[in-house]
Formats: sequence, C-alpha cells, structure tokens
Amino acid sequence: MLAVTSLADEILELKKERRAILLAHHYQEAEIQELADVVGDSLELARKARDFEGDVIAFCGVWFMAETAKVLNPKRIVVVPDREASCSLVESCPVEPIREFRLKHPEYAIVSYINTSIEVKAESDILCTSRNAVKVVNSIPADRPVLFLPDSNLGNYVRKETGRENMKIWQGTCIVHATFPARRLAQAKAEHPEALVVAHPECPESVLAMADFIGSTSALIEYCVASPAQEFIVMTESGVNYSLTRLAPEKRFYYVANENCNCSECPYMKLNTLEKLRDCLRTLEPRVELSEDVMRRALLPMERMLAIK
Ligand code: 13P
Ligand code: SF4
Repeated sequence: MLAVTSLADEILELKKERRAILLAHHYQEAEIQELADVVGDSLELARKARDFEGDVIAFCGVWFMAETAKVLNPKRIVVVPDREASCSLVESCPVEPIREFRLKHPEYAIVSYINTSIEVKAESDILCTSRNAVKVVNSIPADRPVLFLPDSNLGNYVRKETGRENMKIWQGTCIVHATFPARRLAQAKAEHPEALVVAHPECPESVLAMADFIGSTSALIEYCVASPAQEFIVMTESGVNYSLTRLAPEKRFYYVANENCNCSECPYMKLNTLEKLRDCLRTLEPRVELSEDVMRRALLPMERMLAIK
C-alpha cells in the first residue's frame, strides 16, 4: 500500500533536508503557525533570523520582513511562499521623496518603521517596530528634528507618548488597522461590557483612545495571557487568535471587522499557503536577493535599532 504523505509531513521533511527554519508572523494562517519553529512579531522574528545558523530561512510573513532577515543574515537563503506578500505601508512610501528629503534636510533623523522597503531602510538613520518605536524615538537627542515614516497612526501615537513636538509624520496607513471604525469598537464594548480592549498602535487615534492596552502583536498576546481579565476585544489582525487560544484557552477573544474587507485579516499575509510553503522549500523560490550596496546601507539603521533593549 502506498504511504499517504500529508502536506504538513512533506513540509517538515523538506525543512530537514534543506536545513531550514520556518519563521511565522502572528498573522499567518493557523496551519502555517502550527508548523513554524518560531511564531512572533516583526522584532522577534528579525532577531531569530539574525541568529539562525542553518541554510534556509523560510519566512512566512510579508516581503519586507524577509528582506530584513536577509540583511541580518546574508549568508542564508531567504524564501517567502508568495512574492506578492507586500504591505500597504511599504507601498505608501517610495524611496525617491525620502532621498530628496534627506538631501534637503540633513538635520532630520529619519526613523523608519520596519514596514518599509529595503531601499527606504537604506536611507534611514534608525529603524523601529511597533514594540520599540517609543524607545527608538526617545533615543534621538531631543533637539534633533525627526521624520517618522510611513505609518501616520503609529507616528501620532509615538508623538503623544514621547511628547515630541519636532516630529514630521509620513501619511501612510495599514489597510487592516487604519480601517477599524471606532463605532464598531464601541458597539463591541456594549455587547461585551466585561471585556478589556487591546489594540495595535497602527489603529486610528479614536480606537486607541478606547484601549486598555496598546502594543505590538506579541505584546498584546502577552498582556491578554497575563491579565486576570477573562474577555478581550482584540483590535489587530485575527491571526493572533492562534496564540491567544493556545496560551489562554479558558479566555474569550472578540474581533471587530474593519471597513476595508469587512474582516480583520491582512490580505497580503494571507497570500501565503501551505502549498506555497512546500513549493518554496522545494524550489528555493521566490528568494530574496539584494545588492551588496543596499544591504550594507540598510544594516546600520537595523543594528542601531537592535542595540536598543
Ligand atoms: P508587529 O511588529 O506587531 O509584528 O506588526 C507588524 C505588522 O505588520 C502590523 O500590522
Ligand atoms: Fe502591512 Fe497592515 Fe498587513 Fe501589517 S497588517 S503587513 S501593516 S498591510
């Protein structure tokens, strides 16, 4: 009788053959997170990618995260299941105006959210993620003006938290978080009066104003798990439900649909599937390939960020 090999078994077999690590962001499909060696937020995955000593990093997330992994660990082959897995923030911020700004305003420190293209990172003074953005901006001398890009909601949140006035903010948004309407959150709060609200800082100010806790994807999960509360309204991509229900099976989590897709899913993240993951481990394509020059220039702002604890 022929042995029936499941897709998951095939992936695990290929992972061994390729000496690969599977890194998955919290917004991946649950079946991908289940097979991953590490599930995490963008900062945690960048650190894991940097420290990996095998041959292949299969990055189940979006392309900018895989580019970051390549810069931090250039000797490894870095693949992503779907080449089209981009991000609306990356697309909102082309490199040409940033280069122009830098030439015209050398006095500004350019702080780029990790959700940017590698070319934009290469023009930046320091990077940040949603986990460390406040600390990163506070690390810049108070009298040095800052250009924060590209997420306007995160930028406004950081400006409020740091009290920094000399900060210009790029007007990019996340198509998932920026379209969570405050009125739907208010309705969810009325339906679940005992629930605490946790929100990702890419949400609009009107949503953040109703939050009991604001943080990166992993920080939101850590907060819900540690909190004595039993119910939470979770204002981020619903892929976090995988870790939330695994780590706190007795608690209840509610999600609010946004106005873009009437769901709370990132269409870019959801392009990755188990089939495409198997194929990319087989063919080692789509593969991240970057010029030496752009990698060298992007590494410095990345290392400056990683040095901040
Ligand atoms: P984290 O840094 O929280 O993983 O967020 C990345 C992201 O793309 C949020 O939409
Ligand atoms: Fe980009 Fe938003 Fe998707 Fe995160 S959720 S990858 S910010 S589009």
